[in-house]
Amino acid sequence: MAIPPLTLICKLLWLLFSQICYATDTITQDQQLSDDGSTLVSNGGTFELGFFNPGSSNNRYVGIWYKKISIKTVVWVANRDNPIVRHNSSKLVIRQEGNLVLLSNNNQSLLWTTNVTKKASSSSPIVQLLDTGNLVIKDGINEESVFLWQSFDHPCDTLLSGMKLGWDLRTGLNRRLTSWKSWDDPSSGDIVWEVVIGNNPELVMWKSKVDYFRTGPYTGNMFSGVYAPRNNPLYNWKFVSNKDEVYFQYTLSNSFVVSIIVLNQTLNLRQRLTWIPDTKTWTVYQSLPLDSCDVYNTCGPNGNCIIAGSPICQCLDGFKPKSPQQWNAMDWRQGCVRSEEWSCGVKNKDGFQRLASMKLPNTTFSWVNESITLEECRAKCLENCSCTAYSNLDTRGGGSGCSIWVGELVDMRDVKSGQDLYVRIATSDPDGKHERQKKVILVVAITVSLVLVMLLAFCVYMIKKKYKGKTEIRMSIEQKDQGGQEDLELPFFDLATIITATNNFSINNKLGEGGFGPVYKGLLVDEQEIAIKRLSRSSGQGLKEFRNEVILCAKLQHRNLVKVLGYCIEGEEKMLVYEYMPNKSLDLILFNSVESKFLDWPMRFNILNAIARGLLYLHHDSRLRIIHRDLKASNILLDNDMNPKISDFGLARLCGSDQVEGSTSIIAGTHGYMAPEYAIDGLFSIKSDVFSFGVLLLEIVSGKKNKGLTYQDHDHNLIGHAWRLWKEGTPEQLIDACLANSCSIYEVARCVQISLLCLQHHPDDRPNMTSVVVMLSSENVIPEPKELGFLIRRVSNEREQSSNRQSSSINEVTMSLLNAR
Ligand SMILES: *[C@@H]1O[C@H](CO)[C@@H](O)[C@H](O)[C@H]1NC(C)=O
Ligand SMILES: *[C@@H]1O[C@H](CO)[C@@H](O)[C@H](O)[C@H]1NC(C)=O
Ligand SMILES: *[C@@H]1O[C@H](CO)[C@@H](O)[C@H](O)[C@H]1NC(C)=O
Ligand SMILES: *[C@@H]1O[C@H](CO)[C@@H](O)[C@H](O)[C@H]1NC(C)=O
Ligand SMILES: *[C@@H]1O[C@H](CO)[C@@H](O)[C@H](O)[C@H]1NC(C)=O
Ligand SMILES: *[C@@H]1O[C@H](CO)[C@@H](O)[C@H](O)[C@H]1NC(C)=O
Ligand SMILES: *[C@@H]1O[C@H](CO)[C@@H](O)[C@H](O)[C@H]1NC(C)=O
Repeated sequence: MAIPPLTLICKLLWLLFSQICYATDTITQDQQLSDDGSTLVSNGGTFELGFFNPGSSNNRYVGIWYKKISIKTVVWVANRDNPIVRHNSSKLVIRQEGNLVLLSNNNQSLLWTTNVTKKASSSSPIVQLLDTGNLVIKDGINEESVFLWQSFDHPCDTLLSGMKLGWDLRTGLNRRLTSWKSWDDPSSGDIVWEVVIGNNPELVMWKSKVDYFRTGPYTGNMFSGVYAPRNNPLYNWKFVSNKDEVYFQYTLSNSFVVSIIVLNQTLNLRQRLTWIPDTKTWTVYQSLPLDSCDVYNTCGPNGNCIIAGSPICQCLDGFKPKSPQQWNAMDWRQGCVRSEEWSCGVKNKDGFQRLASMKLPNTTFSWVNESITLEECRAKCLENCSCTAYSNLDTRGGGSGCSIWVGELVDMRDVKSGQDLYVRIATSDPDGKHERQKKVILVVAITVSLVLVMLLAFCVYMIKKKYKGKTEIRMSIEQKDQGGQEDLELPFFDLATIITATNNFSINNKLGEGGFGPVYKGLLVDEQEIAIKRLSRSSGQGLKEFRNEVILCAKLQHRNLVKVLGYCIEGEEKMLVYEYMPNKSLDLILFNSVESKFLDWPMRFNILNAIARGLLYLHHDSRLRIIHRDLKASNILLDNDMNPKISDFGLARLCGSDQVEGSTSIIAGTHGYMAPEYAIDGLFSIKSDVFSFGVLLLEIVSGKKNKGLTYQDHDHNLIGHAWRLWKEGTPEQLIDACLANSCSIYEVARCVQISLLCLQHHPDDRPNMTSVVVMLSSENVIPEPKELGFLIRRVSNEREQSSNRQSSSINEVTMSLLNAR
């Protein structure tokens, strides 16, 4: 009676088994994998093979993806260029001769085949999905022999651990990565990443078949252009180059880490992504190309790209721009030519210049010999008049081998992983002597300047001594600074001097009125012109505190800040003395229909960049953090060369609110420039300045005031108008009509987008000035601005005037919720 239950159990077990193990990892002769939801799952459960639709596409493909990762990450596609267009009984079958084929329409169409010519020796070849992600065809179940075919030899856009990227020279097989066309179309896109073989192999990224990025040749430790330390915790990599094979390969250090190299077709990057299980996201570990210097031939022939340089392209020593005009306009493609007459083999006209930390140039026209030394290499180069440079082939152990370039040197940069490159120029100095001479010159220069400085210091000391004895006009103020004692002098002007200079604050001398009081022009007895700000507020500050604040402001020195010359305190009067700027303030030119015509786009772009740099200095680079609080066009003064200088900075501190960030009952700002949190709650921070900068940016681009502007079809102010145009994809319509010819649509669109970021309602959503400066000066992708919720709507009959008011009167500012479109 025990037997029936046993058979039942067996039956049950079998049922269970067949259910669980339905997910097998092999396809044999008498099986097939149909498009009915069935898949192959690798032995350890890491990878899965089956039919899928990429993104929202209706096309169907056979692919391999990670089974355990919640974001479907397809690492390989079989029929990438030949999709199954309609669901129609498609299946994967292994044929007798050893080919895996994808059939659809009841065997009628062959969509994809492994196309193996090597015949299987046994009559029953099988297909197996290995736990490495490799799909292989083997002779039989138990055969551990060579694979008849493997998917690792036919990569798509992803390089998995253990895969080889490169050449098998014996068979001519080139394994290379090709990006997807788009996120929902796996067919071959235009980014290719491969090993280029030649005298000196390297990895190259092509974009639409044009060179886009090269790693530089392998120098034994690294590629000369990519800093990639081998001993990192995530993976190990190697580059093998011998007569049979040339390839790059990496292996993960831990089997539980998931990390891949993938070509990103939207960003045109080769990225290393690592899966973070906790957050269930892929994070980017490394991206190539890294910066604009990595982009192929950015600086043209014989140009050197220095990412920290300004500009980034510089000619090699001994070279000059081929076309200085284009070069200065930042069009570097023409590159550089020798600046001195060079004659092959002529004494004093032929030599080498050593350049350190260089990414080696394009190796297509180079020649190598592994067994000769650097000295012999140099001799070889001197022998041949077409030789332009040489270097070691391998940098390990002090360097060995020889690499020689003929023709122009293309695609060099300054890089950490780089090496010494010896470039041929007209010089009598062999590199060593040259260096030594340089050192001697340096030492002499330092000694001489030290002596000079000491002499000067002595003179100053003597003069000071003399001056002090005679008069007390100059006050010496001691100031504690970072633990040290600093002795600073700032000219003190007495009230009588100022009254004379300003003709007793005559209305004729009045230049304007800012948030903290009127400004007068003054003329000192010695004919020097000055600007005097008469601070209207009597703050609770004592004399000493005020003086200290003035000194702090005087210390702020930047090309784009108006210089503080001195101060005056007497009774209730407190005054600041500035350098006088003969040109007008920005608003008078920008908003004047005649004069604004002379302010073309390059000038405006220069102005807004300079303002950004000045503000960056106030916010981050100076020792104090200064919040301007009243940044506006009338506070930007222009010098004779139309360079802008920010004025009125630091007044918020001088007027008694010395917090870095905080709230205040006194609102000193100007309608139309004030950030919402400042206008309503009196909260100010560097981000409220960023907001004002955003407004200023729009005004400079459009040539219109944020205030007092009417648009016929809506009653938005300038911000609302800009937002609407940007949403509609036509930000260029914002530009001042008189700019139409001089402007770059691309720069204008960028400026508008940056300003919208600065105008975000929430301070945290606004970038800081560091990012703004970077965004203005680079071509990086900038984030999309979020919906601008609150906008200060135009309020009729408002005067363009600064206000110093108590926050109790906030209802002066009309806030309205604006629905963009
Ligand atoms: C599938 O293929 C069969 C045979 O070729 C054809 O008759 C049928 O119309 C196809 N079905 C679809 C949905 O295309
Ligand atoms: C398709 O081929 C398989 C074997 O490869 C065969 O069993 C099946 O009958 C064929 N189907 C049709 C409709 O020909
Ligand atoms: C198979 O390979 C041969 C040559 O290697 C080629 O001519 C043929 O077109 C290929 N067939 C398919 C279906 O890819
Ligand atoms: C190097 O320069 C040659 C000649 O200009 C060009 O054909 C080749 O594509 C370049 N190589 C790389 C890796 O960019
Ligand atoms: C490329 O990068 C973008 C932005 O990070 C991302 O959304 C996209 O999925 C990436 N594509 C691939 C193929 O990794
Ligand atoms: C390298 O140079 C050595 C010495 O000059 C020479 O014997 C050898 O043949 C050269 N090798 C190659 C590959 O040119
Ligand atoms: C110089 O080198 C180039 C490239 O290796 C070669 O084609 C040329 O013949 C050499 N010229 C002489 C004079 O050796």
